[in-house]
Amino acid sequence: MLFGTQTINEQGHLEVGGCDTVELARVHGTPLYVMDEEALRQRCIEYREAFEAQADKPIVAFASKAFLCKAMVRLASEAGLHLDVASLGELRLVAEAGVPLDKVTLHGNFKKDEDLEAALELGIGLVAIDSIDEYRRLSELAVTRGVRQRSILRVSPGIDAHTLDAISTGRNDTKFGITVETGAALEALEECLSLPGIELIGIHSHIGSQILELEPFQLLAARLMDFLLSAREKPGWSAELVVLGGGLGIQYEETDDPPALQSLAGAIIDGIAREADERGLETPRIGIEPGRSIVGELGLTLYEIGPIKTVPSADGGTRTYVSVDGGLSDNPRPVMYDAPYPVLLANRAGEDASMEVRIAGRHCETDTLIPAAFLPEPKSGDLLAVQCTGAYNHTMASNYNFFYRPAVVFAKQGKAREVVRRETQEDLLARDLD
Ligand SMILES: Cc1ncc(COP(=O)(O)O)c(C=O)c1O
Repeated sequence: MLFGTQTINEQGHLEVGGCDTVELARVHGTPLYVMDEEALRQRCIEYREAFEAQADKPIVAFASKAFLCKAMVRLASEAGLHLDVASLGELRLVAEAGVPLDKVTLHGNFKKDEDLEAALELGIGLVAIDSIDEYRRLSELAVTRGVRQRSILRVSPGIDAHTLDAISTGRNDTKFGITVETGAALEALEECLSLPGIELIGIHSHIGSQILELEPFQLLAARLMDFLLSAREKPGWSAELVVLGGGLGIQYEETDDPPALQSLAGAIIDGIAREADERGLETPRIGIEPGRSIVGELGLTLYEIGPIKTVPSADGGTRTYVSVDGGLSDNPRPVMYDAPYPVLLANRAGEDASMEVRIAGRHCETDTLIPAAFLPEPKSGDLLAVQCTGAYNHTMASNYNFFYRPAVVFAKQGKAREVVRRETQEDLLARDLD
């Protein structure tokens, strides 16, 4: 599978953004995250336009946890997207990137006072309130500063998004948001409306990630409108903004068939309009927060292939283990979720890929990256490209085994620029004070 601007050149090398990946690996080293800059920009614009074509002033906010660095924040902002952040660190990086902070939403199920204070200090656009304790503290902090913080209330609508347990966040049994079904969310909403430091302008829900169907979003639209109907009946409140989170999936496997952006926009916008109309409610402004479906397919990781071993397998046959010079520390998702990824040999991308091998990382764990990958017979020194690592890889990377986290390169029109440098021993030792 090829994504974005990827092609295979005359030497049989994989190219991204007009840059030969073999050359990228030579210049910048491996493991290396490579992002397809022009395709990323296009994807951000397509997302915004798909929603703008069908709704009045929709807010499309890039969920920065999926892939965060200043270059990406600026790219998304220039393409007209808002941003969502979920920690003090993410907020500070976004501020450092110099984008308008009134277009940023702060998330998180445990925002500490320092997070809320920074948000108030920086004049953040919205806080997505996640708990009772949080809105009480936020109101007090805002009053101390003599401001009212524009906020949305995150509710938990009791929807199972049919995705992996760890990334399904809209069920009743979740740490995120306040439960609709028990009446807790409505009570919280009433209390929020009475607080002097909070200006509640809407509601929020994010039901999960890697969702490949439209039905969960349509069901969410209906549940949120039910909630807004009860809010209009009891405290007599109407939402100006309804944010439906992120969650659209990408093509990690041949069989994954994510809906087109126009279909997603149609399902959400028509769904909200219809459900609002049926209940006699005004159609609110709509917001969404895609992360994975903006960056996921447009990033890949390059690894050098090292030792290759063929060993007896449990089923009585043999298995070939191909070790690469990264693994759990630069991509924890296969170990965390059994997440699948497409692969190819970047330096022999045109060759027939019919040998089944297991791709292993080089950590002191059984950090299998790809349990069954089909490649041309690999050799030590070959370059492996793991596709679709644009989301939740760079941002989830760790220093396990004291590995240096990889550099990030933006490739565009035959030129590559390093936007995040590789970590060094000095970086890691800087925190060790003994
Ligand atoms: C509140 C919120 N919004 C948006 C997202 C982005 O989700 P995705 O990357 O699946 O689009 C997440 C992901 O965890 C989230 O928690």
